[in-house]
Amino acid sequence: MKIAVIGSGTMGNGIAHTFAQFGFPVNLIDINEQALNNALNTISKNLDRQVAKGSLSEAEKSTTLSNITSFTDLKTGVENVDLIVEAATENLELKLKIFKDLDQFAKPEAILASNTSSISITQIASVTQRGAQVIGMHFMNPVPVMKLVEVIRGYATSDETTSLVMDLSKKLNKIPVEVNDYPGFVANRILMPMINEAIYTLYEGVAGVHEIDQVMKLGMAHPMGPLQLADFIGLDVCLAILKVLHEGFGNPKYAPCPLLVNMVMSGNKGVKSGEGFYNYSNGIKEATVSPKFKKPSN
Ligand SMILES: NC(=O)c1ccc[n+]([C@@H]2O[C@H](COP(=O)([O-])OP(=O)(O)OC[C@H]3O[C@@H](n4cnc5c(N)ncnc54)[C@H](O)[C@@H]3O)[C@@H](O)[C@H]2O)c1
Repeated sequence: MKIAVIGSGTMGNGIAHTFAQFGFPVNLIDINEQALNNALNTISKNLDRQVAKGSLSEAEKSTTLSNITSFTDLKTGVENVDLIVEAATENLELKLKIFKDLDQFAKPEAILASNTSSISITQIASVTQRGAQVIGMHFMNPVPVMKLVEVIRGYATSDETTSLVMDLSKKLNKIPVEVNDYPGFVANRILMPMINEAIYTLYEGVAGVHEIDQVMKLGMAHPMGPLQLADFIGLDVCLAILKVLHEGFGNPKYAPCPLLVNMVMSGNKGVKSGEGFYNYSNGIKEATVSPKFKKPSN
């Protein structure tokens, strides 16, 4: 089975890495050549880490890398593959355009999956002529490490497509969980309100970045605090998901915190831009937001 992965950012490189490691030939596609080069470097570094831990041999590392071919042209990258996992930027118009193109360029029997965090699979499927073969395959970050694949059935997704994607996820040594297509699915419907509340807690001056993360790590046994997790996910991605929840349910409880909106507008996107709630120029340093944040005077 041949795979194409569209988008080589935070998620796309991990998805390509995982398929390639389990023996699938992967076409990794991005419009940005630099993003493709960065992705191949990241994959190589992450494979080195697996080799150092003893979970992969040098030979397996080379085979994994040789399973990945990079493309900047969508048509050439997808025309001969059996499954496409789209992991481009979280933007509705962009995804609808990509799926319209995929429907045209991919083999009629190919399955079209999206790694979207929150955008409706049913809506994505509606711009194609193959709604039964469109599905959500939502990997978690970092993909080579995290066990879950949230498999999202759109309104038109067939049983056949669902079982194929469930079985395929198991071949990647993942645990698939099937859910229905409503805003945020399950993972982000629960996670994002918690992250947004953590940002509101900071915005209202209840506590600083470090304190908020410490409370959730030490008190709730979360491996990472919500603000650090938001930095890892990408603050732009968090904002996009909150907007989908807010619009999808029409409930003000999902309204993104104005501090998150400001940070994204000023280019502070978290790990990928070098600064979010923390500064990443020398590993994780002290929180960056608290000093800039002015507490309410009363
Ligand atoms: N970041 C996370 O933790 C996370 C977790 C699960 C799911 N997701 C989802 O995965 C998807 C990708 O997120 P990300 O965090 O990897 O984003 P990212 O910003 O790190 O990477 C997106 C990549 O898509 C590329 N791209 C944009 N338009 C394209 C096009 N037309 N064709 C090909 N490539 C294109 C960009 O050049 C960029 O390299 C989003 O739908 C997001 O919601 C993200």
